[in-house]
Amino acid sequence: MDFNAVTRRFKEELVRVEESIRKNYESDVPLIPGISSYLMSGGGKRVRPLLTLISSNLCGREADDLVVKHGCVIEYIHSATLLHDDVVDETTIRRGNETVNSKWGSDASILVGDFLISRAILMLAEDCNPRIIRAIAEATKILVEGGILEYTHARKLEISKKHCLDVIYRKTASIISVSCQMGALLADASEEQEQALVSFGNDFGMAFQLVDDAMDYDGDEDLLGKPPGTDFKEGHVTFPLLHLYQNSDRAMQNKIESFIQDENVSQKDFEFILDNLRETKSVEYTLNLAREYLDRAKNTLRQGSFQSPEYVDYLIAIADHTVDRYTAAKTCS
Ligand code: FPP
Ligand code: MG
Repeated sequence: MDFNAVTRRFKEELVRVEESIRKNYESDVPLIPGISSYLMSGGGKRVRPLLTLISSNLCGREADDLVVKHGCVIEYIHSATLLHDDVVDETTIRRGNETVNSKWGSDASILVGDFLISRAILMLAEDCNPRIIRAIAEATKILVEGGILEYTHARKLEISKKHCLDVIYRKTASIISVSCQMGALLADASEEQEQALVSFGNDFGMAFQLVDDAMDYDGDEDLLGKPPGTDFKEGHVTFPLLHLYQNSDRAMQNKIESFIQDENVSQKDFEFILDNLRETKSVEYTLNLAREYLDRAKNTLRQGSFQSPEYVDYLIAIADHTVDRYTAAKTCS
């Protein structure tokens, strides 16, 4: 099954998610709907809401209005993190469009992000399900910790792979995991089913970010929606660069250290690093690790016992697509 089959099957539910997204950012402060509309029509695939919709179905609850609303809550929190992240990273292009901070300024980007988070909290308060509120609050806290850890360790190479994976877990896997968990909680699933979905989401989230990090070095600009080399130029030490650093001699390590300190690193510098990454197979190493996480994610789901197991294939199709959309053309030895 491919990703298009998933969006075809959930077409009607996704339309309702879009309606909820549009309806809930209404405000008499014109900047809020203006920026939210720009942001929300910028080409996101709604992966996180889809995970909630499908997980709920998997555990026996159809995607009724409450499930759709929680898909919207997750998308609001995710969008807020991107609005804030683009300010921190001073990013100008996302999903092929100018970022909100570049178009309207950092203040607007931060404040509209704050609005989306408050709106999400208000929507959660309408139903007052303490388990759902706790799960989302916990995931958001972990996500913010990830953002802060990444920021405080920017331009530092004396980090371990374990640290790198911890940041990935916090900043990306936590919200993907809670998107799945929410489906289980809404469907009043068993503890085992909930844990299987949490575990699937964590492993899938790890794979998702590792692929993103690999493709930021060796990906296609059209697919990425931004030029490759963004992490390197922003001074983020992600998995591929760390692998190269740890497998280089002292002279090369010195070069990497000076590039990563340099706020005006050039395209030529990036290409030099890319050539070296290819020699040490650092991109392949990162992609292979992503595939290990992906396999584990899929096995967890296949071994689970669910009310409507036919939905397992939809979750697996989303996970596969996220990794394969970039890597199909690349060989992973
Ligand atoms: C994207 O990573 C960044 C994140 C997923 C989260 C970062 C978290 C914050 C900035 C905290 C904000 C939190 C809230 C709740 C508002 P990336 O920079 O590797 O990915 P990118 O290439 O898509 O920017
Ligand atoms: Mg960023």
